[in-house]
Amino acid sequence: MSKLWGGRFSKKSNKLADHFSFSISYDKCLAKYDVAGSIAHASMLGKCKIIPKKDADKIVKGLKKIEEQILSGKFKYDLKSEDIHTNIQDTLKKSIGNAADKLHTARSRNDQIALDVRLYCREKVKQTIFALIALQKSILSFANKNKKIIVPAYTHMQSAQVILLAHQMLAYVEMFDRDIARLKDAQKRAEVMPLGSCALSGTTLPINRNLVAKKLGFKTVSANSIDGVSDRDFIIEIISALSIVAMHLSRVAEDLIIWVTSEFNFIDIDAAFCTGSSIMPHKKNPDILELIRGTTGKIYGNLSAILNLMKGLPSTYNRDMQLDKPPLFESVETTKEMLVLMANLFSGLKIKKESLENGIKNEAMFSVDLMEYLIRKGVSYRQAHDTIGKMVKTCLDKNKKISQLSTEEMQKYSKKFSSDAKKLLNPLASVTAKKSFGSTNPKLVEKQLLKWKNKLYA
Ligand code: ARG
Repeated sequence: MSKLWGGRFSKKSNKLADHFSFSISYDKCLAKYDVAGSIAHASMLGKCKIIPKKDADKIVKGLKKIEEQILSGKFKYDLKSEDIHTNIQDTLKKSIGNAADKLHTARSRNDQIALDVRLYCREKVKQTIFALIALQKSILSFANKNKKIIVPAYTHMQSAQVILLAHQMLAYVEMFDRDIARLKDAQKRAEVMPLGSCALSGTTLPINRNLVAKKLGFKTVSANSIDGVSDRDFIIEIISALSIVAMHLSRVAEDLIIWVTSEFNFIDIDAAFCTGSSIMPHKKNPDILELIRGTTGKIYGNLSAILNLMKGLPSTYNRDMQLDKPPLFESVETTKEMLVLMANLFSGLKIKKESLENGIKNEAMFSVDLMEYLIRKGVSYRQAHDTIGKMVKTCLDKNKKISQLSTEEMQKYSKKFSSDAKKLLNPLASVTAKKSFGSTNPKLVEKQLLKWKNKLYA
């Protein structure tokens, strides 16, 4: 176990201090980004004649071998190394000898870690966006399969109005689309190449930062060496965006949990995503959905951890910043897992037609349609609201359906009612009567389904 900073020390480090400070156990997942950064850096050092070309070539060759081992899973991580940078440096030295000592010229681990995490975010954000799109597709296909199905919708968890199931599903697709936009936007600010900050103030050596950036696929380099090693905003932004993804997943999970209760019984979840009870043999519990809801709290906790970690730090690099990694890695990996689970869950979702039909029998859900009928006939909104309110209340008190009222009885509430008013009292009429853009009108929903199909499968 070597250290990259042994020279100044005459004493061995304390074992517990090592255990407490080493990051290899979690930053080993940065190995491939670290090597990619080193390859770009070493070839730049050679090109700029800061180190002899033959040494640079030797280093690059050695690093490529390590890269292959990492990608094929054959690389031997040394958990006695302080961090992944040290681990790779040591492995390189063992493989190519003294030329390896030149790799760290004009470089600090402060800029190295800032680069590694940016490369990690680039790849992981891309994967998360793919997972979001896969989820959108899965939801869209569920919507398309059940295009004609009408469901009750709730406000305050009280049945409110009827809507198309597909309309509700498209609401989810919209939410996840904003999540994609947020992640893409956050990623833009992570796309800055920090190598060459050299701990904090730059270097006297004639490095070419743009060359390194180009090799690594960055369009810009950080314009301030202090900010280059200090900045963790991009991590905070990405975890915030992931927190919103998780919040959306949690709300979808909650909708499904309610729909799957024996009281609602609107849908059935594939048994592969449910669990049983150790005591109640009849139970089929939606644990995966509950865990998605619960895990969302962990992601928020990670966001809070990083915000708190950063708020008191003086400028440039401080070792505290090492602790940004576990929350970032956990948030990224867990969110991706939840997205995949939710997409699978939607592909196995079945609706329960009979209970849904029962769920839309409550005619009070057509009260707005009746009110707007009166408005179309010239009654003021206030008066129409009052009229329908009274009519619905009488029906509820007398345990009577609105459709059981005769036209004459309806006219006692408003002279504007004619026999056609009762045609409004059915779910299909209700959704079809909606006209406004963005409403649950079947023709408009159909257009939206098509729009999303074109967008997602473009
Ligand atoms: N493990 C460290 C981190 O994650 C790497 C950088 C260490 N730099 C240093 N000066 N000790 O931040």
